[in-house]
Amino acid sequence: MSRTQILGTGSYAPARVLTNQDLEQLVDTSDTWIRERTGIQERRQAAPDEATSDLAVQASLHALQMAGVAPEDLDLIVVGTVTPDMPMPSCAALVQAKLGARRAFAFDVSAACAGALYALSVADQFVRTGQVKRALVVGAELLTRAVDWSDRNTCVLFGDGAGAMVLGPGPASDDSPETMAPRGILSTCLRTEGSMADLLCIPAGGSRTPVTADNVDANLHKLKMNGKEVFRFAVRALVESTQASLGAHGMHPGQVDHVIAHQANLRILEAVLQRLEIPREKCWLNLHKYGNTSSASLPMSLDEAQRAGRLKRGDVIAMMAIGAGMAWGSAVVRW
Ligand code: UT7
Repeated sequence: MSRTQILGTGSYAPARVLTNQDLEQLVDTSDTWIRERTGIQERRQAAPDEATSDLAVQASLHALQMAGVAPEDLDLIVVGTVTPDMPMPSCAALVQAKLGARRAFAFDVSAACAGALYALSVADQFVRTGQVKRALVVGAELLTRAVDWSDRNTCVLFGDGAGAMVLGPGPASDDSPETMAPRGILSTCLRTEGSMADLLCIPAGGSRTPVTADNVDANLHKLKMNGKEVFRFAVRALVESTQASLGAHGMHPGQVDHVIAHQANLRILEAVLQRLEIPREKCWLNLHKYGNTSSASLPMSLDEAQRAGRLKRGDVIAMMAIGAGMAWGSAVVRW
């Protein structure tokens, strides 16, 4: 079975910038608090006429261009999102239509901030088994429409964006010259702890609590989070899953060249890196510019690192992400 390779990456961030100073006008917060507690300086906000699939399409076009793959050659589209354009059909179906990817079957994966990592793992299975030749994986999120703009605990954290990856089977002979080790996705490790669902959720809008005027008045259709508990859990969980995905391939953190991580909070990342004994310089950081873009943040980071020339052929990348569910995981990729 040949390994899945990442043939192209792309990202898109809406043009409108919301700074910490802008948020000081909305809620009782300060630039200093947000920077010191999270590392975020600004985030992007989609234009009123932009929906999640529009962001996803822009990121996808960049990834397809880099991969040299035409939309009509795609066999599969998986979008990780919890803020689709509408409850149904899937965001992926809308992306398929907008790209003109007529041959691709398409579906969404709901794993919140771990959405792109879950989508990557799902698509990897299809590619490795030979069922599809070209897969598009997207993480796209428009969280500025899901946050409660009167809740300072959450509204300062999130932003909008999309990231995409084009996958395909690597040639069986494609080994990195230095180590003769296979390139591509080496392992993925996905985890879920559903008993912690209350820690981070959007209570209304589903079958349990449908959207009614009363529920909207009570802001139940907006995101709620127990940040402290999520923080505590996230550090332990990401360390364990990263060790597990490296271990599955007989590797250890010392062999990691780059960390491409979901960007929720700089302090979470620093704590994880410290426990794994991976130098901070190995982790691509962009949350100061975009805030927490949920499922978009991992593929956006990968694309930025790639376009900045940071990723060299044969480098080992540890990916990690965690979000509502709790759902989290890690992946190890040799570039
Ligand atoms: O995307 C995946 C899932 N999400 C995450 O991974 C997020 C995880 N959690 C976090 O990043 C952090 O817990 C937060 C950034 C959300 C909060 O940071 P914290 O250091 O855990 O702060 P806290 O919740 O313990 O709050 C400390 C204080 C509180 O005031 P009191 O009770 O000590 O008087 C809060 O009310 O900070 C207050 N506070 C704020 N102050 C100014 C909370 N939000 C703000 C704010 N501006 N925006």
